[in-house]
Amino acid sequence: MGRTMRTPIIAGNWKLNNTISEAVALTTALKDLVADCTGVEIIVAPTFTALATVSDVIKGSNIRLAAQDVYWEESGAFTGEVSVPMLKDVGCDYVIIGHSERRQYFGETNESVNQKAKAVLSHDLQPIVCVGEQLEDREAGRTEEVINDHVTGGIAGLSAAQLLSGVIAYEPVWAIGTGKTATPAQAQEVHGYIRKLLKDAYSDEIASQIRIQYGGSVKPENAAELMAQPDVDGALVGGASLQAESFAQIVKNAL
Ligand code: 13P
Repeated sequence: MGRTMRTPIIAGNWKLNNTISEAVALTTALKDLVADCTGVEIIVAPTFTALATVSDVIKGSNIRLAAQDVYWEESGAFTGEVSVPMLKDVGCDYVIIGHSERRQYFGETNESVNQKAKAVLSHDLQPIVCVGEQLEDREAGRTEEVINDHVTGGIAGLSAAQLLSGVIAYEPVWAIGTGKTATPAQAQEVHGYIRKLLKDAYSDEIASQIRIQYGGSVKPENAAELMAQPDVDGALVGGASLQAESFAQIVKNAL
């Protein structure tokens, strides 16, 4: 099965940006710009505080909602956390899990990623599981080792059907927010490796169906050549998703 069988998926990770009114302005502009885009899944991931409002703005549109993180317990004495049923209630379809910033600054581990992925799947939402090596890993020739560790740890114990409900996002840490995009060949090399890992762990058929996004300084100018790689099925966009025009252009360049 080639890439054409996998629907491209472009997600905007807004990170710690946008008040509610800014989120409304951005989403309203984006909605118009991508109204005619078909054959691509378009996702925005606002902060928790803007989810409910953005959920209202995108109602009836071709934009879907993601959260940037979640906790695996459903309710209880876990001050500061947000659960999967709460995200479902507010209209999320997707949850980003294991972003490198959460691994780096907030103690996210493969084990917590795995618990979160299982919780998300158990409520029929879709996890976007992020993996990616740091610059020193790459320079020391450890890229595959780190990717193997993140992928196998993050998806441990998932059934084939569960795996297919999710998305994997390859985000080399050295390319995030640095303006230094992985070359299409570098992205393809790791995406191909991830697909091989999934083939070995599940089957050729499963591996060929799962979508793998690339993230790290994706811009309108480089989206098309990244998306042209056989194993790159979409983009997880940070900075360029904060402007409606540039995010819409990435969506269009991915088609
Ligand atoms: P940038 O597009 O700003 O490099 O961020 C990528 C990212 O981390 C998306 O999750």
